[in-house]
Amino acid sequence: MDLQLKGRRALVSGSSAGIGVAIAHHLAAEGAAVVVHGRDVERTERVAQQIRDTGAEVAVAIGDLTTEEGAGSVAASAVAAFGGIDILVNNAGGAHEGAASWFDTPIDAILASYESNTVAAIRLIRSLAPAMKERGWGRIVNIATAAAVTPTSGQPDYGPSKAAMINMSLGLSKALRSSGVTSNCVSPGMVRTQGLNTYLTEFADQRGLDSVAEAESVMLKGIGQTVGRVGEVDDIAYMVTMLASPRSDFVNGTNVHVDGGISPSVN
Ligand SMILES: NC(=O)c1ccc[n+]([C@@H]2O[C@H](COP(=O)([O-])OP(=O)(O)OC[C@H]3O[C@@H](n4cnc5c(N)ncnc54)[C@H](OP(=O)(O)O)[C@@H]3O)[C@@H](O)[C@H]2O)c1
Repeated sequence: MDLQLKGRRALVSGSSAGIGVAIAHHLAAEGAAVVVHGRDVERTERVAQQIRDTGAEVAVAIGDLTTEEGAGSVAASAVAAFGGIDILVNNAGGAHEGAASWFDTPIDAILASYESNTVAAIRLIRSLAPAMKERGWGRIVNIATAAAVTPTSGQPDYGPSKAAMINMSLGLSKALRSSGVTSNCVSPGMVRTQGLNTYLTEFADQRGLDSVAEAESVMLKGIGQTVGRVGEVDDIAYMVTMLASPRSDFVNGTNVHVDGGISPSVN
């Protein structure tokens, strides 16, 4: 199937590492011009060059999305690179490093998580969505997490801030009603990235397990997945690419669980 992404212009926030790299690769492979974004210049340039080497049109935007200035500059460089952005993937973010148990996580860490997950996405949306609306077509895909709808007992900063992101994203789909611009979420489960590897290593140490593979297997049973493997970055990127396509014109205001069955739902 032709996903009709040739000539579309995409900004993938947080595409210097992890899931964002795969999303940028897949959008580029389908013919979109892609702006790779990160805070770390070297890492971001390296990913951009890898994608450019496949023959795709690629630009780079650098900046911290937790400040108005940083987010404004990222949006401006992305628009300047290709003359506009049609597809915005709000992927940057994650759990805050200072987060601990429900009662011990500092309030500052909780606020920081809202800032880097929810508010960062809002900043880019406010900068880029009005022009999409004027052109009559656009895509906003926000990356949340399974923990937003299937909360865990820990990380009280993370799941709630991503739940706010889902709520914001669905409200936005109503604010953009009949404009040709859609707003959807993708909620990944446990996905194999550097961050997951670090987490599983700590998990194995704390429980006296022999290896990351054993930690992975214990973890999989504990979280109630119905698919018997950890997710891969491509699993998320396929869904994002589909939602970014004009083929998904009729999909709006939804939250797609790409989580191996952690969050079964009838709606
Ligand atoms: N991995 C999983 O299992 C999993 C599961 C569910 C949901 N998710 C969500 O999926 C998204 C990607 O996760 P990941 O594991 O692939 O992350 P990752 O490997 O840690 O990469 C995070 C990316 O976001 C960028 N970033 C982080 N904070 C930023 C900020 N304040 N301003 C600008 N850029 C920022 C990083 O840029 P730098 O290069 O500058 O560091 C990097 O490109 C996140 O929103 C995460 O919450 C991940």
